[in-house]
Amino acid sequence: MAILDILRYPEKSLLKPSKEVEKIDDKIKALINDMGETMFDAPGVGLAAPQVGVNKKIIVYDPHAPDPEHEGEKKEFTALINPKIIASSGSIVSEDEACLSVSEYSADVKRFKNVTVTALDIDGKKLEFDAEDILAVIMQHEIDHLDGVLFIDRISTLKRAIYKKKIKKKLKEK
Ligand code: NI
Repeated sequence: MAILDILRYPEKSLLKPSKEVEKIDDKIKALINDMGETMFDAPGVGLAAPQVGVNKKIIVYDPHAPDPEHEGEKKEFTALINPKIIASSGSIVSEDEACLSVSEYSADVKRFKNVTVTALDIDGKKLEFDAEDILAVIMQHEIDHLDGVLFIDRISTLKRAIYKKKIKKKLKEK
């Protein structure tokens, strides 16, 4: 197990689409365990493989994140391989959505309230489940990462331009 470096915008791997996992071998399983550890260390409620520089369709998330009653319990994460949203409905504003790969910024993002997700679990078993509210937002946010899409791509053009300018300035100052 190892804690991996989390890449930040505008790192290239964050901006390109990821490939499907064809075989869940030991290397993939080790990556998933490292991603889980890295997510809890950050700390965050979700992490996608491109955020650690691997353009493969893998996400991990904290299934207890929507439920504060689980706070303080042993941390457990769920991994989804090749996840896909096959149905979506309703509308919700995720307030102050943030991302471990987007420094010092958060914004309200319009998301679907309900999504249906298909994926493989770490043993290669097919899953299909419904998620709503916070869990639905986590699914949309993390699966977006696999398409090279960040939450700043889902805010207004003006807000995005201001954020990009700020980051460019910061990078120059380094
Ligand atoms: Ni993110």
